[in-house]
Amino acid sequence: MEKKNIDWSNLGFAYMQTDKRYVSNYKDGAWDEGTLTSDANIVLNECACVLQYAQTCFEGLKAYTTEDGHIVTFRPDLNAQRMAASAQRLEMPVFPEDRFVEAVHKVVEANAAYVPPYGSGATLYIRPYMFGSNAVIGVKPAEEYQFRVFTTPVGPYFKGGAKPITIRVCDYDRAAPHGTGHVKAGLNYAMSLYAIVDAHEKGFDENMYLDSATRTKVEETGGANFLFVTKDNTVVTPKSPTILPSITRRSLLYVAEHYLGLKTEEREVYMDEVKDFAECGLCGTAAVISPVGKIVDHDREICFPSGMEKMGPVIQKLYDTLTGIQMGHIEAPEGWIHKIC
Ligand SMILES: Cc1ncc(COP(=O)(O)O)c(C=O)c1O
Repeated sequence: MEKKNIDWSNLGFAYMQTDKRYVSNYKDGAWDEGTLTSDANIVLNECACVLQYAQTCFEGLKAYTTEDGHIVTFRPDLNAQRMAASAQRLEMPVFPEDRFVEAVHKVVEANAAYVPPYGSGATLYIRPYMFGSNAVIGVKPAEEYQFRVFTTPVGPYFKGGAKPITIRVCDYDRAAPHGTGHVKAGLNYAMSLYAIVDAHEKGFDENMYLDSATRTKVEETGGANFLFVTKDNTVVTPKSPTILPSITRRSLLYVAEHYLGLKTEEREVYMDEVKDFAECGLCGTAAVISPVGKIVDHDREICFPSGMEKMGPVIQKLYDTLTGIQMGHIEAPEGWIHKIC
């Protein structure tokens, strides 16, 4: 297969149309058999439930080329499970988990020419999503749905090395207790736009959201979970029913314990104790771990000892080990790497 003529190392994070996408329609209580199509456009009724009441959820994962030349994805079964949880919370039919993995597989295979080569740092981003498609004017769930998967090549997250970022404690809330913070509903992202535009305008890279009930505990950012390292090298991640269960964070905790022999804790993290940590990072599919150098909490600044120049030593080890597993340099736990071809 000949690769497309793309300047892989200069790609950003933007949509580029690829050749094929997967579509399956849900009607009369059942999903159809699904198909790959070349048509990147969707025609919807003006009153489609997704347009009126935002009945939509999505996932995000990546395909990449390993050192030995295979195209693989990382734990797509967990994206399938999380999308099932999102669908249930939004009164949408679940797209069966085995079919989700198969759909991802088919789309990546069909767009193999767009999967960046090993060593470029670029990846093929995969976006599965689902929405209520029939006309609904009273507030109720749709009866018809579309599940789709498209792909787009994206550039390396860190160009010229991972520089620590500065984030602020946000005065807006991301998720209410018993709300939808734990699922990947489009509505969670729509309402975060105001806060992130405001953060960027004020010179911050990201928002740190606190729990909206007490505003004393660390939740997450708009698109990543937190990971902290104590001065005695324990890896700590916030536990909360209102954060998205990051697949990267769960994988990093496993790596910390089973590959690096570190102690891990998944527990409530109070804002008051953040100043005592040695390292801080954000974890998600996009960057694996993005180091945080500084947190601005109104008139108070927390500067981590790891500084503003490079990742702290424990976060660096976690990053190197997980990316080593993903790229095939380090043996992966059973079932983590899904080989496409
Ligand atoms: C709100 C939020 N938290 C965390 C994550 C990180 O999750 P993952 O590691 O599965 O990409 C994401 C990205 O999907 C997200 O949108």
